[in-house]
Amino acid sequence: MNKKITRATVRGKILLSGEHVVVYGQPAIVAGIDREMVVTVESSEQGFLVVSQHRDGLGLVEESLRRLNIDPETVRVTIESTLPVGSGMGSSAALCAGIIKAGADYIERQLTDREWFELAWKAEKKAHGNSSGVDPAAAVYGGLLWYVRGSELEHLKLKTTYSLLLVQTGKPKESTGEMVAGLSSRYKKQETRCKQLFTRIGKVTRQIRVALEQSTSIKDLVDENGRLLEELGVVGEKAKILSETLRRKGCGVKIAGAGGVKKGSGMMIVMHDELDTIHKELLAGDYPVYPITVGGV
Ligand code: MEV
Repeated sequence: MNKKITRATVRGKILLSGEHVVVYGQPAIVAGIDREMVVTVESSEQGFLVVSQHRDGLGLVEESLRRLNIDPETVRVTIESTLPVGSGMGSSAALCAGIIKAGADYIERQLTDREWFELAWKAEKKAHGNSSGVDPAAAVYGGLLWYVRGSELEHLKLKTTYSLLLVQTGKPKESTGEMVAGLSSRYKKQETRCKQLFTRIGKVTRQIRVALEQSTSIKDLVDENGRLLEELGVVGEKAKILSETLRRKGCGVKIAGAGGVKKGSGMMIVMHDELDTIHKELLAGDYPVYPITVGGV
């Protein structure tokens, strides 16, 4: 048997604005980040084998292979990743997008980006059925995207770059699917209140887009979004206490993904006019911190 091997590199993401409400049709702004996942698919005579730094508890590797009609028993899949799992950085979607790309190359099937995205989205739905598609869109297209479920996505080209910090508030106990389902049951009980919050977050997301395009500060708008997400009930106590401490220092703060309430809330975005000072203070504390930039042409 001739050995065949293909490889794909995909990236993680953070949501600058609009997580959760994007499931209900509001816009989101998502930014690709330089944390990568490299997926290798190769022929195997030993049957299906996954060698991974990434725990695939949901069977997304197999689901993605089946979407391409690849018999999992015929391949070995290797996943190398610097993306933390389950921390709001799109690791499940990146995994699906990586397998679809490497798998399509493996069977020599040409995919348009749209087809790649659709297949990755379908596979990601095994992780959480009510996915808006924003995470697979970020993994497939990269860059800075304006995403509305069911509409053509837009690439946002900015003249400026924005520096921010990602602070790890702790790995959430809940999966993204559980967080989305939790909001859905609150929505059924308190529809009017939830709809009001969704509309307010949608408005902030539109204001953030304008600010990004005019190269003005987004710190206070990101913070407003962060506070509204707390009202939506997707942020835990530990992250809220840290947020309040940082807000007293003049930071804008919000979670970067689905959040979490029982334990940690995943990665949190922290913005400040003097970011270096805050960075040093955080480095001296208990929370892992990563500087990143978004935007630029
Ligand atoms: C998770 O990164 C984003 C959520 O809005 C879920 C989704 O849009 O599918 C929480």
